[in-house]
Amino acid sequence: MTSPIKPPDGNWWNQPVDRRESIWLGLGAAWSLILFGWMSTWTRVGDQNPIGETFRVDADEYREKMSAYKDEATETDDGLVPPGTDVYLNAMRFQWDGAPVVLEAGTEYDIHLSALDVQHGFSLRPEEALSQQINLQVLPGYEWVVPMTFDEPDTYHIICNEFCGQGHRTMHGTIVVEEGD
Ligand code: CUA
Repeated sequence: MTSPIKPPDGNWWNQPVDRRESIWLGLGAAWSLILFGWMSTWTRVGDQNPIGETFRVDADEYREKMSAYKDEATETDDGLVPPGTDVYLNAMRFQWDGAPVVLEAGTEYDIHLSALDVQHGFSLRPEEALSQQINLQVLPGYEWVVPMTFDEPDTYHIICNEFCGQGHRTMHGTIVVEEGD
């Protein structure tokens, strides 16, 4: 049996590495260090990273916070009006508890996110531009407090973008943002 690839002549395996090859290896190593450093820097600078604090919370604790919040919130035809600037949402198969919620443009809110059962995705999109979105992951056992300010009055759709079961595609909520005072 002959190989279509001819082995090089001589004892090539016993030759010192060519200088040009060493240079390429060096360049490769240096470049991977630069990329590694860049990756680390990128998590520290720029506005593209998710912000806010996360806390450990168990499902029952969060459910209690959720119901205390709902007791204080005002129910309107458009949705819940939060009592202050804290807004609670609880993701569960297959709905967003706490939505629809009515907020004011220009006010900074602390949006509390957690999940009751499995991991869900929080994709927020303005109706006027559905392709514009932010995407966050919502995990059971964690409460993520995300500061958010809505610049424009609009209806914002909360779409679950993490496959969470058979009703995943129906998991939708809304944030109605009205003109601020
Ligand atoms: Cu929740 Cu998909």
